[in-house]
Amino acid sequence: MSDMSAFWTEAMRQNWGLDARLERLDGEYDLNFRACATNGQDYVLKVMRAGCEAELVDLQVQALAHLAAEAPGLPFPRVFPDLSGVLLPEIADADGQMRLVWLLECLPGKCYARVASKLEDLILKLGRVLGATDRALERFSHAGLQRAGFKWDLMQAGWVADQLGAITDPSRRALLAEICDGFAAISGQLVGLPKQALHNDANDYNILVEGALDKRPSVSGLIDLGDMCAAPRICDLAIAGAYVVLDHPKPEHALAALVRGYHAVNRLRPDEVDLIWPLLRMRLAVSVVNSTLMAGENPDDPYVTISQAPAWRFLENTEINGGLMPARLRAACSLPVTDGAERIHAYLSEHRGQFAQLFEQDLSDVPMGSLSVENCTWPQNPFQMPLAEAARVGEEYGEGVWLGYYNEPRLIYAEPEFRKGPWKASDRRTVHLAVDVFAPAGTVLHAPMSGRVEAVENRNAHLDYGGVVILHHETPEGDAFYTLYGHLDPEVCDRLKPGDPVAQGAAFAQLGDAAQNGGWAPHVHFQLALATGGMQTNWPGVGDPDEMELWHALCPNPAALLNLPDDKVFYRPTDKQAILQGRHDHFGGNLSLTYDDPVMLVRGWKHHMFDEWGRPYLDAYNNVPHVGHAHPRIQAVAADQLRRMNSNTRYLHPAQTAFADKLLSKLPDHLSVCFFVNSGTEANELALRLARAHTGAKGIVTPDHGYHGNTNAAVAISAYKFNKPGGIGQADWVELVEVADEYRGSFRRDDPDRASKYADLVDPAIAALQDRGQGVAGFIAETFPSVGGQFIPPIGYLPAVYEKIRAAGGVCIADEVQTGLGRLGAYYFGFEHQGALPDIVVMGKPIGNGHPLGVLVTTKEIAQSFDNGIEFFSTFGGSTLSCRIGKEVLDIVDDEGLQDNAHAMGVRLMDGLRQIEGDFACIGDVRGMGLFLGVELINPDGSEGTEICKYVKNRMRDHRILIGSEGPKDNILKIRPPLTIEADDVDMILWALLDVLAEVGDYAPAPACDHDHHHAGCGCC
Ligand SMILES: Cc1ncc(COP(=O)(O)O)c(C=O)c1O
Repeated sequence: MSDMSAFWTEAMRQNWGLDARLERLDGEYDLNFRACATNGQDYVLKVMRAGCEAELVDLQVQALAHLAAEAPGLPFPRVFPDLSGVLLPEIADADGQMRLVWLLECLPGKCYARVASKLEDLILKLGRVLGATDRALERFSHAGLQRAGFKWDLMQAGWVADQLGAITDPSRRALLAEICDGFAAISGQLVGLPKQALHNDANDYNILVEGALDKRPSVSGLIDLGDMCAAPRICDLAIAGAYVVLDHPKPEHALAALVRGYHAVNRLRPDEVDLIWPLLRMRLAVSVVNSTLMAGENPDDPYVTISQAPAWRFLENTEINGGLMPARLRAACSLPVTDGAERIHAYLSEHRGQFAQLFEQDLSDVPMGSLSVENCTWPQNPFQMPLAEAARVGEEYGEGVWLGYYNEPRLIYAEPEFRKGPWKASDRRTVHLAVDVFAPAGTVLHAPMSGRVEAVENRNAHLDYGGVVILHHETPEGDAFYTLYGHLDPEVCDRLKPGDPVAQGAAFAQLGDAAQNGGWAPHVHFQLALATGGMQTNWPGVGDPDEMELWHALCPNPAALLNLPDDKVFYRPTDKQAILQGRHDHFGGNLSLTYDDPVMLVRGWKHHMFDEWGRPYLDAYNNVPHVGHAHPRIQAVAADQLRRMNSNTRYLHPAQTAFADKLLSKLPDHLSVCFFVNSGTEANELALRLARAHTGAKGIVTPDHGYHGNTNAAVAISAYKFNKPGGIGQADWVELVEVADEYRGSFRRDDPDRASKYADLVDPAIAALQDRGQGVAGFIAETFPSVGGQFIPPIGYLPAVYEKIRAAGGVCIADEVQTGLGRLGAYYFGFEHQGALPDIVVMGKPIGNGHPLGVLVTTKEIAQSFDNGIEFFSTFGGSTLSCRIGKEVLDIVDDEGLQDNAHAMGVRLMDGLRQIEGDFACIGDVRGMGLFLGVELINPDGSEGTEICKYVKNRMRDHRILIGSEGPKDNILKIRPPLTIEADDVDMILWALLDVLAEVGDYAPAPACDHDHHHAGCGCC
């Protein structure tokens, strides 16, 4: 212990009566100590430098005391009075100099800046904490709050404009000048707002965050009141906003969440909300100009450049639409989106029925036609809308007039400009913000009410609007609003120009045909907007389903202007909660549902799926749609066969033998007899019957943690089921052997003889069955154990086991339900990797690509033993339809080179996983082959990371990536996508995993008395 620490240890004992171990913390001028006291509490002892500004220290101490009294629930550190009841005593230091000293509570948590999981929910909570803080501080006053010439007081930020010369880059200087102009424009308004005490520095190092894997993070501390001053409360919010947006993947959402949280506890006025955006940008301008000036001679110093980088990245991000921000933030607070919004709504409802008819016809009885994700399959490929399909969209609703819904999520907006990120499964805009009226090209449009032309344009790009007109209207009270008419005959551009008056009922345009209107079936897209701020150059006709609070407010349902009730044209997707309830009511509780927030999926295409709002998900989990969801060839073959006939194996049909021939061409010659059934379970049941018929024995040897199906006998050979709590237990005819787990099992990768050692475990199992008089009917194993944890057994394991089983008279069954048909890339079946020749091969899941189909293939000899005079019949097994589909799946794997793709993508994924493996302590093992991959997640002590796995799986779902989990402790991520997955998707998985695994680090327990948050907790950094 240094002398200094010894001195202050003693001072703490004398003044506070506390025995503590002191540890010096960083601090530029003052002495700060972390004090771990013998009473079990952690403190921060702050010894101010001699001659410090006592008023500012007192300000902080008094403010904390005020907050503790007024709002004890807020996460501020308590200040502990000394033994004589003084909060800020003066104590002579070792040199006899008087120092102000205060003792603070040390709060738990980690700096927000160092937290990876900056979830919107956390930011919302931060908004609430800040809102409640400002409420509590309303009643706080202190002379120290008046800080003349204080550069961090946003009200006084005008100094920045005079210092722009320090910024050498001209475009950056111009950007800051524009921000300063915006600030100058609002300063009059700012001065008019009431001032109050503010924290004034809720930056990312002053916010502490605490959470656990099973508990979303919350704010555990708001520290460092050193920048307190008196200013309008909105400055406090704007300052916090300036930090939560930095490097956030969705900065607008982050800011909206913060403001929503603040408003929920400290109601804001709309005019205050409008100030947030210019103030936020000004705060960042203050920050970058200040740090440039501080760097003095070296503004290009790498440290300065690095520390300013996030602010510049944000300020220069052209993707952020600042013009929309006031509306977005007002909407987040459920405040009227414009000052006139409520009057406009009232006007439109009052005049419903009195507007001129858009189409010279009453639309009340005109039918609705849905183009929603759920109700139509336009376009077949949701990532590409060919012109040929666009021109036919909605043809199922006939050639007469029909209406398309407002608020309807659709997949027809497939072009990349609707996508909001780099990946195919990135968020996309899907929700229609207008009402469509479909009618023949040439139909004339009449203005529902008078107005003037705001814009007229021919937007003739691929699948754009073609001719488009925007009209400006006003209510009698003078509130402006706008209507947009898209997909017009562009001749309108020759007749109208901005500013032209348009009388109510005037015929002003006509519907274009597909050649004129951007490529679509003829219709008008009729949209209402209450403001055009941020939309002048590009009105979005569709919105992101996760931003509907903004779009409903800004572009409300235009039904009134069509003289229609709102409900008629307002689309409501299937209510997920109602389906969930129905499921709880009518299905068994053990029919499990994946994810804390379950997904409802209504469309698919290749390796993507879509929920009821059209949000895309990357399917990296489902191996059943082997050749991809909704494969056109499978659709065609199924439809074709259903048009003809569908019958059973009691009649001849060439599809049966064609399927068998194709399948057998993939198998070793000795396997020549096929049995077609409906599922993997049924095939395994049959395998047991065959083995017993052939051997006359009953006993089965099988690896632990295996799964072979859900019927009585299949469960009896599935340790994964029978050995679970509540399971039926082990039958006397079953012997388990340890699964060949090279990572966690008895014999690991460092043991060159592990294959034979695992195989030798079969010997006692055989002996036990023989001892019990069961004999050995056979051995069954998933060739690569999947549910047990995605294991690849060591080479040589299966041949050695098979030899022992055969020597004991048994047959060898390979369950290839998970591994077969090319998934492994290098091999068509798993047993090929082992160089083993099974007597029975079982296939399921992928072979029907979702159609229920299972197949068993065996030798002539075994089939003959089974052919004992009793008919084998499975009503649906081997139906004509199943045989056609099964063969088509196998053909597609070959025709589309999917086995090679599985290899290439598997290598890409595995390489990526191996690269990140060392960066995360929670990754214990990465294993797999082709598109059969497992990532074993572990706790710091090496035990199975069940909670971590659950967290990762759920967070990957938040990133719209479906992956599964497996293993006896459910701690192994299972990645096995359809074989169509592409490089871009693999990269998305790796990108998201990187993010999510970094979040896991947020929840690592902090070592006792050596917390990372010391610096933050003491408020000295
Ligand atoms: C290896 C294995 N065998 C058999 C089955 C049972 O197949 P099904 O669900 O088609 O009955 C499964 C299902 O998950 C499986 O993974």
